[in-house]
Amino acid sequence: MASPSSFSKAILTLACVVLLVGGTSAQLSIYHYAETCPLLCPTVKSIVQAEIAKEARMGASLLRLFFHDCFVNGCDGSNLLDDTPTFTGEKNAAPNKNSLRGFEVVDKIKSAVEKVCPGVVSCADLLAIISRDAVEILGGPGWDVKLGRRDARTASQAAANNSIPPPTNNLNALISSFQNHGLSQKDLVALYGAHTVGQARCTNFRARIYNESNIDGSFARAMQSNCPSVSGVGDNNLDGLDFQSATSFDNTYYVNLMRKRGLLHSDQQLFNGGSTDSLIRTYAQSQETFFKDFVASMINMGDIKPLTGSNGEIRKNCRRIN
Ligand code: HEM
Repeated sequence: MASPSSFSKAILTLACVVLLVGGTSAQLSIYHYAETCPLLCPTVKSIVQAEIAKEARMGASLLRLFFHDCFVNGCDGSNLLDDTPTFTGEKNAAPNKNSLRGFEVVDKIKSAVEKVCPGVVSCADLLAIISRDAVEILGGPGWDVKLGRRDARTASQAAANNSIPPPTNNLNALISSFQNHGLSQKDLVALYGAHTVGQARCTNFRARIYNESNIDGSFARAMQSNCPSVSGVGDNNLDGLDFQSATSFDNTYYVNLMRKRGLLHSDQQLFNGGSTDSLIRTYAQSQETFFKDFVASMINMGDIKPLTGSNGEIRKNCRRIN
């Protein structure tokens, strides 16, 4: 294929920027790679698209990677680093082990991007672009992604264990966890809408479907059919976080919560007579409002402690420090 003309390069660069508003923050900019990697966004998107076409759940898994990166010492690609005999990364931390997935897809995207602009784009930024694309491809909103993050040269298993909230948390613990990352109650409720896609393992919702009372009876029975009550039996059996439409990004997650059909204990905490109930009602009534707030909160989450300037590095391989 002939190399793209400067005109088509300009068009493809613009494909990264859907709204052409917003622009820059103190450190990150939606135009960060406009000159240095004009083919970045179409390169990423075509692979995300192909992988989701192969397995729809992958979109959810990729979105979660960004959350588990940003909540552990900021959005710096630290959760992509492999363990080695001399280095302990975050992949085996409790919230990630046997759970976080999509690393091979990130590898595929990183090598394609290295071909079009070697040594330029960070793994941390790739996670930001990939999660935006995944949301959009699954039917959610699009937005301009702020870029310019650099990659960590460290990781922390302890921080991954402590900074990512567990599904056993009650509402107050969830609110303070988000507060610790500079995120509001509104960010918590809007970002939790990511659970409109993807799956959870029985081990994470067994106690809820057998022991809790703020759960719809027929929903609990349906979930019990695939998640045995005995601990250790069927622990990895999966069910949709949004049992109605786990591969489409919509507002049914909130509708489910209002019907006491949240799968995780922590999901149902958002609609359980507390301070977040009214926002759940708003999002259940208006997908448009949910989408607008979700975009704003994804941008807020993506702003958590980025490495910029001469801090960190641009990794060649997302699994390894250069
Ligand atoms: C606020 C506290 C949160 C808690 C306690 C929580 C907890 C969980 C748990 C336990 C799972 C299932 C993991 C498994 O069983 O292996 C899960 C899946 C998922 N989470 Fe969260 N989560 C939270 C917030 C978020 C946020 C903010 C996002 C993204 C913006 C997100 C995106 C996802 C996605 C997409 C999945 C499905 C992944 C897949 O199917 O591979 N979560 N979460």
